[in-house]
Amino acid sequence: MMDQQASRLVPMRILLTGGAGYIGTHVAVELCTLGHDVILVDDLSNSCRAAVARVESIVGRSVQFYQADLRDSMTLTQIFSAEKPDAVMHFAGLKAVGESVAQPLRYYDVNINATLSLLRVMDTAGVRKLIFSSSATVYGDPQALPLTEENRVGQGISNPYGWTKLMIEQILRDVAHSEPTCQMSVLRYFNPVGAHESGLIGEDPAGIPNNLMPFVAQVAAGRRTHVNVYGDDYDTEDGTGVRDYIHVMDLARGHVAALNHLVPGVSTYNLGTGLGTSVFGLIHAFEEACGQSIPFEVTARRPGDVAATYCSPAKAAQDLNWTAGLTIVDACRDSWRWQSNNPGGYPK
Ligand code: NAD
Ligand code: WQD
Repeated sequence: MMDQQASRLVPMRILLTGGAGYIGTHVAVELCTLGHDVILVDDLSNSCRAAVARVESIVGRSVQFYQADLRDSMTLTQIFSAEKPDAVMHFAGLKAVGESVAQPLRYYDVNINATLSLLRVMDTAGVRKLIFSSSATVYGDPQALPLTEENRVGQGISNPYGWTKLMIEQILRDVAHSEPTCQMSVLRYFNPVGAHESGLIGEDPAGIPNNLMPFVAQVAAGRRTHVNVYGDDYDTEDGTGVRDYIHVMDLARGHVAALNHLVPGVSTYNLGTGLGTSVFGLIHAFEEACGQSIPFEVTARRPGDVAATYCSPAKAAQDLNWTAGLTIVDACRDSWRWQSNNPGGYPK
C-alpha cells in the first residue's frame, strides 16, 4: 500500500550508502519517482556502475554517483560537504551469511567501521536523519511466531553477519541517546525478493547465489541444473523452511514511509508481509510465473537455518501507514522478468 503522505512530501536530498546494490537501486528508483534527489555512494565491491545507469534509465534523469568506500572518512566528508544531504539511508555492507563465518574479521571491519565512519561524518555535517538496513537475522531463534519487534534479539544468532547487524543497532541507539536531535529508523527486513517491474534492475549475486529466489531464477534460466532444497523434515506444513518473502518494491515503499515518519530517537520496524511461504511454495509460485517446471533435489538441512520465520508487520502498519501490497506470485513474476531479460545479470 502506498503511504498516503508520500505524495505530499517536500523534496529531499537523500544519500544512499550501498546505493548501487540490490535494495539501494530499487529504493533510489522509488525516491526519484516521488521527486526526491538521491546521491548514491558505493564502493562497487558487490555491485557495478551499470546498475546505476539502469536506475537513470528508469527514472529518466541522471543520478549523482560516487564510487567510495565508506571507511574512507576523508572522501565521505567531501561528499557530504558537496552534496549536503538532508537524510541518509544506510544499505552499504557485506551480507553473505556463510562468507561471514569464514571471514569474520572482514565482516566486522566493513560493516562496523563503515557505519562508524558514516556516523562520524554525519555528526560533523549535522545530518541527523538515518534509516538503517537491519535484518530479521537479529532475532536468531524465534521465541514465538509471528515475530514482533519485542521478540528477544541475539539468542541463537549463528554468524558474524547477524552480530554486525545487532551491534550496529546498539551503536545507533547509543548515538541517538547522546544527540537527542537524531531521528533514526532501524528496518528489520525479512526476505527481500523480486525486482522492479521494468525488468531493468534486480538482484545480481556474484557467483553461486546463497539465497533461494535468485537460485531458483537461475535454474529457470538454465544457468543451473536444479535447486537443492535444504531439508524437507522441518516441522512446517510441507517439511521445508518457511520464510516471509517481501517484494523489494514494497520494501522500497517501506523506506519512504519510514522517512516520512522519522521522530527523535531510534524507532525499530519489521518490514515483511506477515505471511510465510515454504521452499516448495516458492518453487511452485516460480513455476507458475515462468511457465516451466523447476527441477529440485532434497538435500541435508543447511547449518544455522531455522524452520520458520515470519513477522508481524503490525507496528509498521500502525506507525508508518505501510503494508506490503505485493504477493509472492508478483515477486516471482518480476524476478523472472529481470532474470530472463538479463540472463547473465548486469552487463559487466
Ligand atoms: P548488496 O550487496 O546488493 O548491496 C550492498 C552494497 O553495499 C553493494 O553495492 C556493495 O558494493 C556496497 N558496499 C559494501 N561495502 C561497502 C563499503 N565499505 N563502502 C561503500 N559501499 C559498500 O546488498 P542488498 O541486498 O542490497 O542489501 C542492502 C542492505 O540490506 C545490507 O546492509 C544488507 O545487510 C541488508 N539486508 C539485506 C537482505 C537481503 O536479503 N538482501 C536482508 C536483510 C538485510
Ligand atoms: C530461504 C529458505 C533455506 C537456498 C538469509 C539470511 C538473512 C537475510 C535474508 C540478510 C531457507 C532454503 C535456500 C537454497 C534452499 N539476509 N534454501 N535452497 O536463510 O532465510 O535468510 O537471507 O540479512 O540474514 O540468513 O534466506 O533465501 O537463503 O533461504 O532450500 O539453495 O530457502 O533453507 O529455508 P534465509 P535464503
